[in-house]
Amino acid sequence: MKLPTEGQPADAVLARMDALAARDADWRGGRTFSLIYNAGDEVNRLIEEAARRFLHTNALSLAAFPSLRRFEAELLAISVDLLHGGAEAAGSLTSGGTESICMAVKTARDHAREARPEITRPQMVLPSTAHPAFHKAAHYFDVEPVVVPVGADYRVSPDAVAAAITDRTILVVGSAPCFPFGVIDPIADLAALASSRGILMHVDACLGGYLLPFLERLGEPIPAWDFRVPGVTSISADLHKYGFADKGASVVLYRTRQLRRKQFFAYVDWPGGLYASPSLMGSRGGAPIAVAWAVVQMLGERGFIELARRTMAATRTLTDGIRATPGLAILGAPPASVFAFTSPSLDVYALGEALEEKGWRLDRQQRPPSLHMMVSPAHEAVAGEFLADLGAAARSLEGRPPAMEGMAAMYGMLAVLPDRGAVGRVVLDFLDGFDQV
Ligand SMILES: Cc1ncc(COP(=O)(O)O)c(C=O)c1O
Repeated sequence: MKLPTEGQPADAVLARMDALAARDADWRGGRTFSLIYNAGDEVNRLIEEAARRFLHTNALSLAAFPSLRRFEAELLAISVDLLHGGAEAAGSLTSGGTESICMAVKTARDHAREARPEITRPQMVLPSTAHPAFHKAAHYFDVEPVVVPVGADYRVSPDAVAAAITDRTILVVGSAPCFPFGVIDPIADLAALASSRGILMHVDACLGGYLLPFLERLGEPIPAWDFRVPGVTSISADLHKYGFADKGASVVLYRTRQLRRKQFFAYVDWPGGLYASPSLMGSRGGAPIAVAWAVVQMLGERGFIELARRTMAATRTLTDGIRATPGLAILGAPPASVFAFTSPSLDVYALGEALEEKGWRLDRQQRPPSLHMMVSPAHEAVAGEFLADLGAAARSLEGRPPAMEGMAAMYGMLAVLPDRGAVGRVVLDFLDGFDQV
């Protein structure tokens, strides 16, 4: 494809974009259960307005944009306070969970290079449910991941982690909660274990960072997981998930400023001038930062608590309905609004496809085959309709042989192909195909 010789009028360009978006997921209608965390129209209007105002700014230079500097500083201070970081804690705003996690792993590696120079080939111990961003970080920063299988409750056991720790371990990871099953690893035990061995401990609260504190205020039984737990040295928490901001905003926090210094990068010999950068990105769009700040200001603590209450109300409606649907079962005992369900008798991938035909988008998972849901406040209004469609779809599959077609076929194939190398190649071929016009 060539760059068009002549441009087109803006209206025509926008019309084409609208046409292309016609088949995109209907997140405004509450039909998606991942990707978008929808707090409703009022918050969405603020997001759009704040983004419009700061769309052209660049947080590469906070001197040029003191407004962004202020937003960023306040978001970090609020996040530190929310997660009980104390006076010594500090963090950085990043573009998302993956960048926050990458930064935490790089920081742990660089901390170990100084504190434990005898380690030349560092390892980190993580539950099998930890987000793939840790494997990406391992790949980028040359830290070997040591994966520990989770137990029957889908949480990692401290004994299994203890057995996986070696003289080369620089970081232990736990999730609060993990993406696949929505359960919280035993953070206090893991942190005690890590600190007793002089190892850093990262809690991945990309999902829970802006949700669990408010569930705790609502009296939900949430085990301790944040900086109140001795031995937790860093936390990732996404503003663009249950902080209800638009995509491109997360925080990575450290127990001490000293530890955060290991994250920073500076290059002083460049003809272009001194270059100092706290995190991975160079130029950074100001809109996600401005949006995150605006949403936090608009909601305040009360607003977040109310959204958490509505999220849990929708979650209970959905999980009760799923448990009451013959053949379906929730995996583990997820304490928040992220969960997966499976079936011993129905083909859940076919179920996912049947739901997709009705416009509902649920992620398919493997080990075990299951469908995944992340609930937002906007799902309150559609939970009944979803359950009716789910019940009908489940009934339509009764007695039928397992069918794996379309997307489900790919997931099914991933589950059954024995050769991990072959699976990897299939997935990379899939990525290669994305640039086909
Ligand atoms: C627990 C957890 N950690 C990390 C991430 C990665 O976040 P992002 O997609 O913003 O990079 C996710 C994404 O869903 C997540 O659920």
